Amino acid sequence: MSGGEVIIRGALLYGEGEPTDVLVRDGEIAEIGSGLTAGDATVIDAAGQVLLPGFVDMHTHLREPGREDTETIESGSAAAALGGYTAVFAMANTSPVADSVVITDHVWRRGQEVGLVDVHPVGAVTVGLEGKQLAEMATMAAGVGRVKMFSDDGHCVHDPLLMRRALEYSSALGVLIAQHAEEPRLTVGAVAHEGPTAARLGLGGWPRSAEESIVARDAILARDAGARVHICHASTAGTVELLKWAKGQGISITAEVTPHHLLLDDSRLETYDGVNRVNPPLRERSDVEALRKALSDGTVDCVGTDHAPHADQDKCCEFSQARPGMLGLETALAIVAQTMVEPGLLDWRGVAKVMSERPAEIVGLPDQGRPIAVGEPANLTLVDPAREWTVRGPELASVANNTPFEAMTFGAKVTATLLRGRPTVLGGQVQR
Ligand code: DOR
Ligand code: ZN
Ligand code: ZN
Repeated sequence: MSGGEVIIRGALLYGEGEPTDVLVRDGEIAEIGSGLTAGDATVIDAAGQVLLPGFVDMHTHLREPGREDTETIESGSAAAALGGYTAVFAMANTSPVADSVVITDHVWRRGQEVGLVDVHPVGAVTVGLEGKQLAEMATMAAGVGRVKMFSDDGHCVHDPLLMRRALEYSSALGVLIAQHAEEPRLTVGAVAHEGPTAARLGLGGWPRSAEESIVARDAILARDAGARVHICHASTAGTVELLKWAKGQGISITAEVTPHHLLLDDSRLETYDGVNRVNPPLRERSDVEALRKALSDGTVDCVGTDHAPHADQDKCCEFSQARPGMLGLETALAIVAQTMVEPGLLDWRGVAKVMSERPAEIVGLPDQGRPIAVGEPANLTLVDPAREWTVRGPELASVANNTPFEAMTFGAKVTATLLRGRPTVLGGQVQR
């Protein structure tokens, strides 16, 4: 299906007001009203459903190139579209690493070829993610893939001098550095949150201070470089306090939280199931509560999935041997609905903000996170706020199955996604 007109019938825009029709033509929102008609338009019956701007994920791991046995740009794009995403940022820790324009341009082109979601390449900050030498950021930024964000995610840019230089270059180039905040000297041998649970289970502890010391340091480095810095997957109450402080000082710092850190805590470790290993680790209930509140009051800016596919053999093994990471794209909206909308911490307009508008703004995507209004690009997501569904790993579009939400039942689901007016998902099915 391409190019045709689409009528979304009877949706609640941002979950508000009266049921409304939205007519999409030539990739844009052409009309908003009631009783709209158009010859042979595809009609989407959206009664009782919530229409939102298409979601933007600043933090996705697709495993192409290198680990296509766990995810490809194609399978990851399908997962993203099913999750309501119209743009995702694919992290640089592929094999080979996306530290050159050859790789970043390939990722962008392949994503466009697949055509389900805009796959924006993230460039590595340092060559080979080794933390020794800056990668050619300017060349990647000038390529076809127009790299807008750089990150060594998976690793922390822990050398303060290198981080300082990266921030200086980034502000000159007008790009964003996203930091995986983990002081590696404090996480040697760490596999789980340092606390009573890990101690009892005999698992090496990953202290909150490993994250917080880098967040504090990078806020100060960003301040002095006059640069922006983005904190990946904020996971502790202390990080929330530091963000509050830094923002209060006028420092250009932003942060994301993952759906899994909004829902799960370290009580999940009891079973020693490797599916619960993730970096940063699942924290304590008090951290989960602090993160939810921070997302609701804007201290944490947005949701980033940290979608991280891994093969069964890398997850179904001894906990300390399991690779860190969890699938996230297809379950993100359901978890945000359960943890934020149901308890009244966010309304649907708030969901539009944290899943679409803020990430688009932070990373600088002019055609994403736009208002639902005539003349705007038709990047849209339709959510059924009362659809019960149960997560089954093998049914997800990802090649890998490592979802920690297996067999959990949620109450909201994405039913349709439009990318520049083309339905990429209809009735919960990918439209290739
Ligand atoms: O859990 C994680 N998985 N955290 C990271 O920082 C990297 C990611 C991955 O690439 O699997
Ligand atoms: Zn990370
Ligand atoms: Zn990551």
